[in-house]
Amino acid sequence: MNPFYCVPLNLDLKLFKSSDDTISFIRNNPLWASSPYKLYFRVDTSELSDELLELFEKHNQQVKLIEVFYVYPNAETGIHTDGFRRGDFPKLNFVFGGEDSTMNWWKISDEYKRKEYSQGIYTKSLIEADSIIYEKTDVDFAYSKTLSGAALIQAGSPHNIVNKHQDRFCVSFIFADKTLKRRLTMREAIDKFKEYNVVP
Ligand SMILES: [Fe+2]
Repeated sequence: MNPFYCVPLNLDLKLFKSSDDTISFIRNNPLWASSPYKLYFRVDTSELSDELLELFEKHNQQVKLIEVFYVYPNAETGIHTDGFRRGDFPKLNFVFGGEDSTMNWWKISDEYKRKEYSQGIYTKSLIEADSIIYEKTDVDFAYSKTLSGAALIQAGSPHNIVNKHQDRFCVSFIFADKTLKRRLTMREAIDKFKEYNVVP
C-alpha cells in the first residue's frame, strides 16, 4: 500500500437523501442522461444524506464539490490530474461496480516537465471537470490499486482508470478544512479520517 496515492476507508453509509440506492440514484438522475457521453455530472450538496453531512461536519470538513464519474465497461480513461496544477490533493471517493477495475497513478516524465515549462500546456478534458491531460508518453507508471467502496485517493498526481466488464460509478468529494481554510494534504486527510482507515 502506498498511502500517498490511496487509502481505502471502512465507511459504509448512505450517500444521498434519495430513497434510491446510489447506483439507481445515478441512473435515474436526468443530469447523467443529459451529460456528454454520460461520463460526468455534479450533484448539489442539498442532495446529500444527513449521515454523510454529519461525517464531514464531525471532521471539520466542508464539502466543496460533489462529482459523479462513470466509466463504461472495458474502457480506459485518459491520464489526467484534477484541476490545473499538480500537487497533493486528496479526494474522498466512493466506487460502485467496476469490479476488477484499477486506478493507476503516474509520474510525469522529465521531458514533459520541460515541455510544460516552456509551453504551459494543459488541455480541457471531454468532461466538464477541469484537468490537465497527459499522453502515455508524458508519464511513467507509479502505482496501481483495485478500489471498491470508500477511499481517499490522490487527485494531484496523474491518474486514470482501466475498467473491466462492469459499469463503474464513482461519487467523488472535494472537501476543505474549515479551520485551515484549505484542502488537506493526503497525510492530513489520512490522519483526519484515521478511525476508518483500512490498515493493509
Ligand atoms: Fe481524476
